[in-house]
Amino acid sequence: MVYLDNAATSWPKPESVYQTMDQFLRRCGGNPGRGGHSLALAAAEKVEETRLLIARLINAPEKERVVFTSNCTEALNLGLKGLLKPGDHVITDCIGHNSLVRPLKKLENQGVRVTRILPCFEGFLSPEEMKKAIIPETRLIVVTHASNVTGLIQPIDKYGAIAKKHGLIFMVDAAQTAGMYPIDVQANNIDLLASSGHKGLFGPPGTGVLYLSERVDLEPLREGGTGIYSELEDQPQTLPYKYESGTLNTVGIAGLGAGIKFLFQEGREKIQSKVHFLREHLNKGLAQIPGVILYCQSEGSLKKGAVVSFNLKGWEPAEVGVVLDQTFEIKVRTGLHCAPVAHKTLGTYPQGTIRISPGYFNTLEEVNFTLEAVSKIAGAKAF
Ligand SMILES: Cc1ncc(COP(=O)(O)O)c(C=O)c1O
Repeated sequence: MVYLDNAATSWPKPESVYQTMDQFLRRCGGNPGRGGHSLALAAAEKVEETRLLIARLINAPEKERVVFTSNCTEALNLGLKGLLKPGDHVITDCIGHNSLVRPLKKLENQGVRVTRILPCFEGFLSPEEMKKAIIPETRLIVVTHASNVTGLIQPIDKYGAIAKKHGLIFMVDAAQTAGMYPIDVQANNIDLLASSGHKGLFGPPGTGVLYLSERVDLEPLREGGTGIYSELEDQPQTLPYKYESGTLNTVGIAGLGAGIKFLFQEGREKIQSKVHFLREHLNKGLAQIPGVILYCQSEGSLKKGAVVSFNLKGWEPAEVGVVLDQTFEIKVRTGLHCAPVAHKTLGTYPQGTIRISPGYFNTLEEVNFTLEAVSKIAGAKAF
């Protein structure tokens, strides 16, 4: 079996992630903040250790500014709905995942104004267009760091500088980049950074994070038990508890901590260069196969994530996915990848694309096997 759907969730996880989660649940299975006994304290210690690791990874000034969520979707919802009020204006891209598009659409229906900037020919948002879109009501610039359809990486340092200059809040969806690309929230003036924990950070599903700078004070999405100030009926304002009501996914957070330790031990550059090598090999191999249409291959000055999107003439993307899975046991994603807006921008709506996303644990042999499989599929139908 070959797993090439790491943009959806990375798999397998490092061995230490499985071991940590197993041991954590057996030995530290208390509820952090919900008791002074040793199991609750052990769980709290692990949660705080993971928080610190994330803070180190993104250069957050304090670990308390890292809030655990159940995924990137929840982090984006918290950032957007916690910040924006009717009358506010937002500038965003046209390459976002539905987890950015849908909350923004809902807010738009409630009176928030949204300007969506189309990418230029090379695939990135022009900083000039972004500056032109700023009006007195603009409160937020929110961008997708790397598209999960094309993998193109946007120059967030440039957008962060614009936001800073104009006194705007800057938010980044780093679901596809956290762990794989350097992200420095302070150097890039990022006020809100949303990420999954289960992709490039090697954590398990059910983990995500939102970083908040001191410039933002969000309304929580929910109120409830926080384990602190239990005597108060009002939600505590202390970070991170203000946004972490209810029992945390402690097992997942422990696994996420092990994933980030693995990332530090292996070295981000090593991980990135292996995955990029596999992606380039895949790109070049696919480009040789008659009938393959590759998207966003001209990198120019841009960097690109570990995603290859393509179509095969004469085939629906879903058909190719089924044959890859059932005949060759190769797992890829097909269709719209929860990002219809990105496909409209790319011109691949409504059929979508076939998306192959290699990860650190894939091998060159697996990529070659996949190229052979696509070649056979391409040859099986005349077009
Ligand atoms: C760019 C992007 N943003 C957000 C998400 C949502 O992430 P999650 O599944 O962790 O909610 C994804 C998931 O694929 C994504 O690719």
